[in-house]
Amino acid sequence: MHNVECVLCKCTFLNKHTIIEYDTRLTADHSIAMDQIQAYQSFAKACLLVTVVAVVIIYDRRKANTTTKNEENNNKSRRKKPPMAPAGLFKTVKILCSNEYPSWLLKTAKELESSIFRLNLFLPGATMVIQVGDPDVARDILTDPSTTKPEALYGAFDCVTGGKSSMATSNGKFWHDRRKGMAPAFSSRHVKRMNAVALEKVEEWIEKKLLPMVEKGQAFDVGKEMIGISMDGITETAFEYTMSDEEKISYLQELDLCLKEFLEKSAVNPLRQPFGLLIADRRRAFVAGQNITSLSLQMIKAYRKLENPTKGTIIDCIMTNDAYENDIERAADITTLLIAGHDTTAYSIAWILKELAKNPNEQRRLRDSLRSMDPKDWGRCEYLRKVIKEGIRLFPVSAGGSIRQLGREYTTKEGYLLPKRAIAFFPFMNMSRNTNIFENADSFNPSRWDNPTKEMNDAYMPFALGKQNCVGQSLANEQLHCILPRIVAEFDLTVKDEGTVEYFLTLKPAKAMLNATRVK
Ligand code: HEM
Repeated sequence: MHNVECVLCKCTFLNKHTIIEYDTRLTADHSIAMDQIQAYQSFAKACLLVTVVAVVIIYDRRKANTTTKNEENNNKSRRKKPPMAPAGLFKTVKILCSNEYPSWLLKTAKELESSIFRLNLFLPGATMVIQVGDPDVARDILTDPSTTKPEALYGAFDCVTGGKSSMATSNGKFWHDRRKGMAPAFSSRHVKRMNAVALEKVEEWIEKKLLPMVEKGQAFDVGKEMIGISMDGITETAFEYTMSDEEKISYLQELDLCLKEFLEKSAVNPLRQPFGLLIADRRRAFVAGQNITSLSLQMIKAYRKLENPTKGTIIDCIMTNDAYENDIERAADITTLLIAGHDTTAYSIAWILKELAKNPNEQRRLRDSLRSMDPKDWGRCEYLRKVIKEGIRLFPVSAGGSIRQLGREYTTKEGYLLPKRAIAFFPFMNMSRNTNIFENADSFNPSRWDNPTKEMNDAYMPFALGKQNCVGQSLANEQLHCILPRIVAEFDLTVKDEGTVEYFLTLKPAKAMLNATRVK
């Protein structure tokens, strides 16, 4: 109630009386200015009206909310859970860490007749654990800003990076500052520079290793050889560091030891963690992790000694980024980029070379296309583009795919409810070998990309999607488009030994032996 002064008697009546009394008394006792009284009357009416309208709105909204909640609850109970994979907890963990994983995923999706299914796993903080092999649902989740990487799972990788989180295992500001700082390293200028060096490495390999083997009629291990070329290329261009042969061998051995212990053995047998110090292999794996970090620290030391380090290389982006607090943090991302950047590209090239060796007609067709062009234009060869796409579709090196935690709930077209905080695995191989989308999905047929359907294009996501997709995909693509044609244009490849398929983090053609002969 406002303190209003009567215009005639100057009493402050409204302190003690209601506006209606004020109105009556003032008009009876005083010839007060009617304007002012009417103003207060209007004010009182307005207040009353606003209150009534507010009450009606609140009531209406509460009613609406209750109805929506009831509807939601009804819908939720009508929405079903995805089918459960036919494997108990222990078996699921074992499969997830084994070579069988990609083929088991394909088999299970077929058996359940569903590209989305649950896993018999209990992960901390997860409301459900699911495999999402449906490209549309995968796209929705991966590109949703509320989606995150489950740090508890990705954190296992930190044992390889000196116990420190890295760009690949984090979220939020920590991840964003590192990822943003890395962008210049993958500009087209740097990708071209890195690619030119990769090509030099291929020339060197052809000269020093392949030609002598061709002369002696010896076969070569395609996976191993491509790893060698890729390691040399990336360390020299991205880290301005020349790795000695001993360093290379030791690095790959230590990495293997480390990953096998922390990501495979410890996952299958959780007792290895509390009793780790009593297990010799585990103690050795910790030393391996330290050795890998030491190599990354060695690269940092070498960079600091450079008089004019090239601006914008991967190591330069890391060293000049204020987000890193110390060298151990910097070393963690150097190790991450080195690991993520070498075997993915190398094995992708190896898979494609092997498929070309198994499919002589496709190989001949590619060679003829390449030979009809100026080598400068190979990157624009249409048939090469289709061969690469088809090779990656058939053997996506990241076959098991990304893992994410859902920031909100989703309902799929089949009516499956994927709850908020569920942990989802996105098996890229299941998407790219989906028989409903790809005809003869298991065969190598580059021409299927002549007129791809929208579904085919949507199911192809080998570099993942969304903000945490592959930061190095421009480099990987460029390298594939320059290393493959250089080899295929000059050499005819045949398979001596198919070797085996190995899966551990990446899909590898293990011990696949190819013979090469020079084409005149
Ligand atoms: C054919 C080659 C490659 C393939 C198929 C590939 C695939 C992928 C995929 C699927 C992811 C997402 C992983 C996840 O969600 O857990 C990823 C992330 C990543 N990749 Fe690649 N990659 C390739 C080459 C490269 C190269 C050449 C580099 C760097 C030199 C690189 C660096 C990274 C990094 C740092 C991440 C983590 C990004 C982040 O979390 O923000 N990759 N890659």
